[in-house]
Amino acid sequence: SKGTYEFYMLKEIDEQPAVMRRLSTDYLDKAGKPVVDEKIVDAVSQADRIYIFAAGTSYHAGLVGKEIFEKLTGIPTEVGYASEAGYHFPMMSKHPFFIFLTQSGETADSRVVLTEANKRGIPSLTMTNVEGSTLSREATYTMLLNAGPEIAVASTKAYTAQVALQAILAKAVGEKLGDQAAKDWNLKQGLSLAAEGIQEIVDGKDKIEELAKKYLVPSRNAFYIGRGIDHAVAMEAALKLKEVSYIQTEGFAAAELKHGTISLIEDGTPVIALIDDPVTADLTRGNIQEVASRGANVITIVGKQFAKEGDNIVLPEIDYYLSALLSVVPTQLLAYFASKNKGLDVDKPRNLAKSVTVE
Ligand code: M6R
Repeated sequence: SKGTYEFYMLKEIDEQPAVMRRLSTDYLDKAGKPVVDEKIVDAVSQADRIYIFAAGTSYHAGLVGKEIFEKLTGIPTEVGYASEAGYHFPMMSKHPFFIFLTQSGETADSRVVLTEANKRGIPSLTMTNVEGSTLSREATYTMLLNAGPEIAVASTKAYTAQVALQAILAKAVGEKLGDQAAKDWNLKQGLSLAAEGIQEIVDGKDKIEELAKKYLVPSRNAFYIGRGIDHAVAMEAALKLKEVSYIQTEGFAAAELKHGTISLIEDGTPVIALIDDPVTADLTRGNIQEVASRGANVITIVGKQFAKEGDNIVLPEIDYYLSALLSVVPTQLLAYFASKNKGLDVDKPRNLAKSVTVE
């Protein structure tokens, strides 16, 4: 039940620290070693390429997963929209392994790809929140997100669970392949920092509501920008905001704006910039300048190590590869508060269903 919450979306945002802790307990032992079905670890280790298929928010979690898998396993990883891959099947490597990310386990677009994978004898894993769901039953293997039921149409805790679970699997596979960085990666500590960090962010939600009221509620459009993992988060953040608030929002690789879209920036256009990538932090600052000088209202969401005077939302410090677990949370809250303050039905945006069982 919603308990004292007005909407499930906020309840589910607030549950994310508990979800991080549960995944850590369920999938890492006391010493921090992954506890993942050996058959799954073996099967992924033997792959020469990982293909992740999903839709919507789960697709965006896959974009983050790609960065983590490539870093920790050295296995090239591709991410595709299930809806596209179903009818334009990508060219396969010799030993592909498929991962389906799906909160519900029922998404029709993903089922089409899985059916084709099964015809071709390609091994597959479904990461899902719903035990016994169709994609879980039809794939070779399943890993459960253990995030608890997600009721709001807008997906929040399933996204962070998918990012964390991909990190756990990547570490397990990397260790199996003898990768030193994977062995050294203290994911147990990382997930505990994520739990504490998310808690700190949700405890500061009043400030985020003020930003949403001031900059987003009055606006018809908005942009999210970021580089690296922040680019992936920018796409998810944009989907979340447009889905529940009906504000037209695009998520962009920060430097791409100046290749065309910057012409849309006017006085007061909200541009929300994410900075968590050590390699490109300064470059993104430059992109902020470009839009600010054209009148944009810039909101910054910045990892503590990169924070400067005047930043709006400063995130606790965390490993770059886990940064999505923190940076996405203020964007979920911005979406929630924009929708709520517009008087909309946050949990049931128009034209949408929780799981999309048609192609
Ligand atoms: O159940 P799934 O993860 O397969 O669902 C995929 C998308 O339909 C879903 O993530 C959708 O994009 C959400 N409503 C976004 O908040």
